[in-house]
Amino acid sequence: KANERESLYLVSEFANTYFQKILHKTDQGKAIGLSYFKERGFTPETIETFDLGYSPNEWQAFTDEALKQGYNIEFLEKTGLTIVKDEKRFDRFKGRVMFPIKSMSGRVLGFGGRILVNDKKAAKYLNSPESDIYHKSKVLYGIYHAKQTIAKEDNCYLVEGYTDVIQFHQTGIKNVVSSSGTALTSEQIRLINRLTKNITVLFDGDAAGMRASLRGIDLILEQGMNVKVCTFPEGEDPDSFAKQNTFDELTLYLNENAKDFIQFKASVLFEESKNDPIKKADTVRDIVNSISKIPDTIKKEIYIRECANIMDISEEVLFSTLAQMNKKDI
Ligand code: CTP
Ligand code: MN
Ligand code: MN
Ligand code: MN
Ligand code: MN
Repeated sequence: KANERESLYLVSEFANTYFQKILHKTDQGKAIGLSYFKERGFTPETIETFDLGYSPNEWQAFTDEALKQGYNIEFLEKTGLTIVKDEKRFDRFKGRVMFPIKSMSGRVLGFGGRILVNDKKAAKYLNSPESDIYHKSKVLYGIYHAKQTIAKEDNCYLVEGYTDVIQFHQTGIKNVVSSSGTALTSEQIRLINRLTKNITVLFDGDAAGMRASLRGIDLILEQGMNVKVCTFPEGEDPDSFAKQNTFDELTLYLNENAKDFIQFKASVLFEESKNDPIKKADTVRDIVNSISKIPDTIKKEIYIRECANIMDISEEVLFSTLAQMNKKDI
């Protein structure tokens, strides 16, 4: 089994080299792939750092080359790079710009591939399927490039997408990783927990991003970590926002707008429920429920005080609500 995994790693590494070669050395790669990245504002250095590539718009160019180089069809199929159907072989990724997904130690585990023109019929991103080396709930895109800075800054920015990670990096903020569109999992948070106790969630400035931020908060608190949330103006995501700002501007924005989770929840949920006592009660319960996930009792108490303050409810009531919730958990 260890041998087989090693074979999957080797095939993935070969694919990574192949997609980069196509991007930089072929007419199709240069005309379509490189110009796409340029349009997004990625510098040659950034393209190199993240090993960005391009998959040719052909049925089996990659598979043919891999077989010619002696890679086994069994492993090509198991990584999902080749799709085998009725004895025919097709490349999974065709005519897409390629983002290799790496482990903490820098091994290639899988890929995300983006179509070049937004088209409602095709999925914008196509990702490698689950395999013995790629479990999407256990990886964070960008972790290999971010780990040193996460430890040094003692904070990790968590974003939604590949390009958010890359654009932040290019702007000079390197302690950033992405859950890559999957709902954040405890395993992903545990990877960060090895490097820092502090996470700042930066999800897209749309309804989906807001929901994802709210969902992620409790999972982070459960691991005894500290969580802040910073939102972006409607319609912006970390990529588009970073692209329009310098390092100093971006840093200032993040520092001024990162709220701790109670302020965030209160502002989002409370806005919707200002003049509605029933909704306000739900908001308070929602916040206390998040607080109940915090393992540290001293922190719990501090947050209860903060919540009482912001929501204008007595601490006694909140403490008794908390006690009831803890009882129900047991
Ligand atoms: N995603 C995916 N499949 C899709 C759409 C999204 O896997 N069909 C994942 C990708 O990892 C993507 C992330 O979810 O990076 C966030 O989605 P979205 O915000 O829609 O995309 P962006 O990252 O903003 O991509 P872009 O700027 O290239 O449009
Ligand atoms: Mn490289
Ligand atoms: Mn989004
Ligand atoms: Mn986005
Ligand atoms: Mn985007």
